Amino acid sequence: MPHRPYIVGNWKMHGTRSDLSVARAIDRGAQRYLKVEVALAPPYTMLHAVSSEAEWIGVGAQNCHAEQSGAFTGEISAPMVADAGGSFVIVGHSERREYNHECSATIRAKAGAALEAGLRVIVCCGESKGMRDSGDAVEFITAQLAGSLPETIEDAADRLAIGYEPIWAIGTGVTPSAAEISDMHSTIRDILVERYGEQVGRDIRIIYGGSVKADNAAELLAGDNVNGALVGGASLSAEDFLGIVSAAADLA
Ligand code: PGA
Repeated sequence: MPHRPYIVGNWKMHGTRSDLSVARAIDRGAQRYLKVEVALAPPYTMLHAVSSEAEWIGVGAQNCHAEQSGAFTGEISAPMVADAGGSFVIVGHSERREYNHECSATIRAKAGAALEAGLRVIVCCGESKGMRDSGDAVEFITAQLAGSLPETIEDAADRLAIGYEPIWAIGTGVTPSAAEISDMHSTIRDILVERYGEQVGRDIRIIYGGSVKADNAAELLAGDNVNGALVGGASLSAEDFLGIVSAAADLA
């Protein structure tokens, strides 16, 4: 891996105060793997508590609104994420695209808002099983990224990462092969270079998500342009998540 591996846990709608001990164990464990950048996205309600305690990991949110403030009942803005101690935000997760009907233009606006608030941002993309099977995955991802990526990132290149998460691999235990992941990441790398130029495009980290576990991480993360992982289910256990971090450290 040319970049420092980036392993991000996404707790989705899991976690209450009784799970602070899990976040604490992840934080403590992460100090053994300084070659890896470890981050955790608990639900908003735990953001402040987790970020207050975390010493070794980044703590962020799973979403934010595109506006800074306003009459948007129930929403949380990027400056609010920062105020709660968050340092990054995930935008464009397929669950938000599907269940909250977020389109790529919305994702782009959210990514811009996050960068403007000084946060790091992980922009997610991923094709459905149907698109993969019909051979349209590359075309789909190209279009999705074209619509979702910030237009310019100026001095924020080191704060942008891409999450490639094939929808059919999320929470299913089924994954693409390591070669398929690496192929798609190389396509994404080309898209980034074309959009932001050689230097910036090569610096942006591209992380894979979808059924990453401690026992498949070494294989899935070994390919070219695979710079880390976005982990759902396996991030709910400190032992499982740190197993993935450990595998990434061995590759670094
Ligand atoms: P999973 O989720 O690891 O449970 O497949 C990944 C994600 O949705 O980020």
